[in-house]
Amino acid sequence: MEFEYIKTIKISDLIEKQGTVHKFENGSEVALFIVNGELFAFDNKCPHMGMPLCEGMILENKFLMCRYHQWKFDLKTGVSTFAPNIYLKKYETRIESGDIYVKMVKY
Ligand code: FES
Repeated sequence: MEFEYIKTIKISDLIEKQGTVHKFENGSEVALFIVNGELFAFDNKCPHMGMPLCEGMILENKFLMCRYHQWKFDLKTGVSTFAPNIYLKKYETRIESGDIYVKMVKY
């Protein structure tokens, strides 16, 4: 499987603890969050019923809570707080010249 870093939005466009969505050309979406200066990128679909995680809330600077049915996920690992086999798809990121790049399977 081949991966590539795809450019998304500017880091300066993110608001602390507020989700922002970026849509890729292949139709998938990434939910981007900045929490205490740390960047997190997840597939925008909640593993419960696929609702947009970019609308979720950050709790205690440690968890992302989906706003639809309040499932909680650890920001660092993406793992759900109640079932270790349920987790978010987390993306690696890097920042270049103020732009956020997300590591994706090449499409
Ligand atoms: S869709 Fe996220 S908790 Fe239900």
